[in-house]
Amino acid sequence: MKRIVIATTGGDAPGLNAVVRGAAAAAWQLGWEAVGSRRGFEGVLSGEGLVELTPERVEGIERLGGTILGAASKGTPFMGHEDGPQAFKRAMETQGLDGMVLAGGDGSLAIARELVAVGVPIVLAPKTIDLDLSSTFRSLGLETAVAFASESVERLHSTAASHDRIIVVEVMGRDVGWLALYAGLAGGAHGIVIPEIPYDIEKLAEGVRQREAKGHTYHLVVVSEGAFPVAGKAVVSETTGRYGGVGEVICHELAKRTGKEARFVSLGHLLRGGAPVPFDRVMGLGFGAQAVRALSEGLTGVMISFRPPQMVPISIEEAARQQHPVPMDCHEMQTARALGLFLGD
Ligand code: F6P
Repeated sequence: MKRIVIATTGGDAPGLNAVVRGAAAAAWQLGWEAVGSRRGFEGVLSGEGLVELTPERVEGIERLGGTILGAASKGTPFMGHEDGPQAFKRAMETQGLDGMVLAGGDGSLAIARELVAVGVPIVLAPKTIDLDLSSTFRSLGLETAVAFASESVERLHSTAASHDRIIVVEVMGRDVGWLALYAGLAGGAHGIVIPEIPYDIEKLAEGVRQREAKGHTYHLVVVSEGAFPVAGKAVVSETTGRYGGVGEVICHELAKRTGKEARFVSLGHLLRGGAPVPFDRVMGLGFGAQAVRALSEGLTGVMISFRPPQMVPISIEEAARQQHPVPMDCHEMQTARALGLFLGD
């Protein structure tokens, strides 16, 4: 292998730039060249979106949010291209690219699998602030998102207390509640609502009433965007098909049922923005370096999984096999119960 390409696909996440730097630096150590593909796979396919990754170009980028390469979160590289994966393979060959380091989430795993099947050497680095892959202890971005979300919850304490209000904070996470659970615990929320526990709105209201009975005058509730009521469905926008708004529904209902004033805050894409925390920087550098190491050992069709204290390559099939819901017996859930938080069940 002489020349590799690095790409970031799916939604962005803090820590992607660290992967780019880690992979590029590890490639140079081997005497290889490293280039970046702009907007996910697009740069390779179009042939016009390749960026030479020089030491000057990547110096210090592990400290920056987003991705210097850009990310395409919709569609696949095969759209609009006849015999898609083969066309991509030809594009790699035309540009003298011998292998690819791809930082992405579950969508990228599926695309990578098709490309690997036609012989494109690919090693993946797991990225998702949702932590919805069970095959890795941590994925890029979660720690940074949790830091911001918990700080936000922390800030809401004083304003909620000043007005004796309920404040409901909605966070991303799609079908899993990790982000809400960590943000709620670390930010000192009083209630947490996650998709793994379909909520009973009356139980949530009862949680507020019980706190009031003990003399508490304000209440913070963190809600995962994918949360849904018992015998109900998640709130998905009819126009965009995206999650969002369940927190507002809960907020409105809590106000109605408790007679208290309530406000709603959605953190949305703020959770994906900003500089990565040190943990995501170090992990990203590690994912990049280990991905290149795997390529140098002739591996392909693998994802680098963080299994503390090591990072190990596992097959894409294994990586994609399971979703990663919050287990009801994990220590975080036990802590939430021990603290007496209301969880809607
Ligand atoms: O997969 C990460 C995620 O942040 C989800 O939690 C969220 O629903 C989604 O991305 C939003 O992505 P987009 O950038 O397409 O709005």
